[in-house]
Amino acid sequence: MKGVILAGGSGTRLHPLTRVTSKQLLPVFDKPMIYYPLTTLILAGVSEVLIITRPEDAPSFKALLGDGSEFGIQISYAAQDKPAGLAQAPLIAEDFLAGEGFCMILGDNFLYGSGLGRKLQDLQAARGATVFAYRVKDPSQYGVIEVDEGGKPLSIEEKPKNPKSNFAIPGLYFFDEKIVEICKKLKPSVRGELEITDAIKEYMIRGELSVEVLPTGTAWLDMGTYESLLEAGEFVHIVQSRQGMLIGDPITAMKSRSNSK
Ligand code: TTP
Repeated sequence: MKGVILAGGSGTRLHPLTRVTSKQLLPVFDKPMIYYPLTTLILAGVSEVLIITRPEDAPSFKALLGDGSEFGIQISYAAQDKPAGLAQAPLIAEDFLAGEGFCMILGDNFLYGSGLGRKLQDLQAARGATVFAYRVKDPSQYGVIEVDEGGKPLSIEEKPKNPKSNFAIPGLYFFDEKIVEICKKLKPSVRGELEITDAIKEYMIRGELSVEVLPTGTAWLDMGTYESLLEAGEFVHIVQSRQGMLIGDPITAMKSRSNSK
């Protein structure tokens, strides 16, 4: 399967840390941030990864990750000239995708939980789009999804003032090949971005959106603020020192993927 990591953006909430470097290259305990979403993709069964970065950061990502052979995958790169929104990613990735479905992850998303890789691998062949729902105390800063008792999606809103549910949508999505056509038709939102929630809504209207509620034991953090960046580092430190194994390490993830085949 193919995967795309969105590692562009402006990272304004982390200024001045991100004035001269990309957010996704900042340290999260003992690894650069991008190792964590890359590891999630590897656990999901992805073997070809496209990393989208700001043009000026591309050389640093290439120096860090190369062509991916160190991890047993193929990595290629594409530039996003302006941070014009998450829904620009499928358009930038159109040639890479070559008409196939894929898994997309935001470069600042940290996901860790028992059985997560297996769950993600099972979703590879799904039609339409699949998003995840994660219970949070304050969902108003995220995309929020409302589902009925059977798990059917009812509404999706971007950063609502009065959220209809406590389920945030983490930055991990599965799309079939129709995403490119859908994103081509999107109009920029009031904040001037092509919104991925609008593309997801279109799948919902077509009756082609599946929602997977992440188990309560799963850790999901977006590492885009000072607090969440520190918390992610502390989480990694605690789990690693207690269990004596690396998390968010692409080489370890690839070994466990090979062993579970
Ligand atoms: P955000 O955290 O929403 O935006 P940002 O990274 O620009 O940070 P800030 O809000 O502090 O200014 O972005 C989520 C992820 O998506 C992050 O990994 C950056 C990436 N991204 C892109 O690659 N391109 C984009 O156009 C946008 C908006 C985000």
